Amino acid sequence: MDRILVAVDGSEPALKAARMAVDIARRFGSKLTLVHVVPRLLLPPDVYGLTIAEVEKEHRAYAATLLDKAEAALDLGGLETNRTVLYGSPAEAIAEEAAAGDVGLVVVGSRGHGAVARMFLGSVSDRLVHISPKPVLVVH
Ligand SMILES: Nc1ncnc2c1ncn2[C@@H]1O[C@H](COP(=O)(O)OP(=O)(O)OP(=O)(O)O)[C@@H](O)[C@H]1O
Ligand SMILES: [Mg+2]
Repeated sequence: MDRILVAVDGSEPALKAARMAVDIARRFGSKLTLVHVVPRLLLPPDVYGLTIAEVEKEHRAYAATLLDKAEAALDLGGLETNRTVLYGSPAEAIAEEAAAGDVGLVVVGSRGHGAVARMFLGSVSDRLVHISPKPVLVVH
């Protein structure tokens, strides 16, 4: 298990999953990659009164801040860690990243930001379990 991917969306369940990913990475001597996917725009950028370049800049800044916060909340000492920002549909983008030869495990939270309390799994973790080419650990 050369590298473990952990998907973070800024939510508490994702952070809980990331803590477990850190623990596993340490025990297996794996590298850790923190991944955040910036979802596609729902509407064309001019609806927001912004150019595509401005929207992309905001997205990059948002993703960087989110990953900064995740890193700050984790104890990453002694681990080889990097971070990746992807764009598009979160489950598909994470699955594609997981296809890289050195990835041995993908770790996600069972829920994220879109907490509808009655749901057992969020749509991203649910879909990822179906399409990931690598084992997925869903942390409840
Ligand atoms: N944009 C994202 N980038 C990276 N990881 C994500 C993203 N969205 C969700 N995840 C991962 O998937 C886990 C489950 O989140 P998910 O989005 O499936 O649940 P939810 O937000 O509660 O429900 P839904 O989004 O379906 O309303 C998160 O804990 C996180 O690990
Ligand atoms: Mg979500």
